[in-house]
Amino acid sequence: MKHLIDSTDLSVEEIDSILNLAQHIIDNKEDYSEVCKGKKLATLFFEPSTRTRLSFEAAMMELGGNVLGFSSADSSSATKGESVGDTIRVVGCYADIIAMRHPKEGAPMFGAMVSSVPIINAGDGGHNHPTQTLTDLLTIKREKGRLDNFTIGLCGDLKFGRTVHSLIKALSRYKNIKYILISPKELRVPDYIITEVFEKNNIEYREVSTMEEVMEELDIIYMTRVQKERFFNEADYVRLKDTYILDETKLKYAKKDLSILHPLPRVNEISTKVDDDPRACYFRQALNGKYVRMALIITLLENAGRE
Ligand code: NCD
Repeated sequence: MKHLIDSTDLSVEEIDSILNLAQHIIDNKEDYSEVCKGKKLATLFFEPSTRTRLSFEAAMMELGGNVLGFSSADSSSATKGESVGDTIRVVGCYADIIAMRHPKEGAPMFGAMVSSVPIINAGDGGHNHPTQTLTDLLTIKREKGRLDNFTIGLCGDLKFGRTVHSLIKALSRYKNIKYILISPKELRVPDYIITEVFEKNNIEYREVSTMEEVMEELDIIYMTRVQKERFFNEADYVRLKDTYILDETKLKYAKKDLSILHPLPRVNEISTKVDDDPRACYFRQALNGKYVRMALIITLLENAGRE
């Protein structure tokens, strides 16, 4: 593995090794404070971000490395008409590894084709978000102690939510996971997820339209925001944005050991009253994102050094 573009670029063994390294970093932070000394991470964000960009930058700093980059397309030469390919070739002269977010699906894959240094997809349009998936997997592993044998409900914008697509693809390799897809009919998962992931691998899934009807079955609920920026018209967004709000009343029917995940940012999908419930994992999840990105940076730089 040289680049990380799609969550299935990683085998189950590679995922295990990154998650184990992340856990080792958590337990032995001081041992890692200089492992990337002299190395530079470039964060090229053509789309807004808080957690992903800052956790990448914090990750590299905690490894003793340096960071450079831009946080919006407006402050890059993209506004002058420079292609993604040219930007990547040039940044490869200045940095040892690149994390890139872009509104166009496939842009990081295209960047990887011309890049001399490892490229990490930090989100491409409504397509993929593999480092959020690593974050989610580390969170599930730490909260539940396993990555198999559970029922997960994915709720909200399953059509445009790239975190959902990447997570389903990655989890499809683990045993005995049941998927309950909770969304309005307009925001169901894309057809390729049904045919290429669920049907092809004989995986059990159900599509439902309310949380209430399935709440008691769930071991994990993965809430998502309706992806405003991917809608073609404002009226549809306004109509759908508050379809699901997880609150204390709905949680009355949930298991005592339910894990509530959300990639964040939250808009209205989870009442702030839920934040103090021990089952709310989303802020721990955001912290896990930094450690898993530390593990990923180390792994990709080691792989690049071996070539
Ligand atoms: C997600 C994203 O960018 O896809 N955010 C994140 O990276 N944690 C989810 C979202 O924006 O809704």
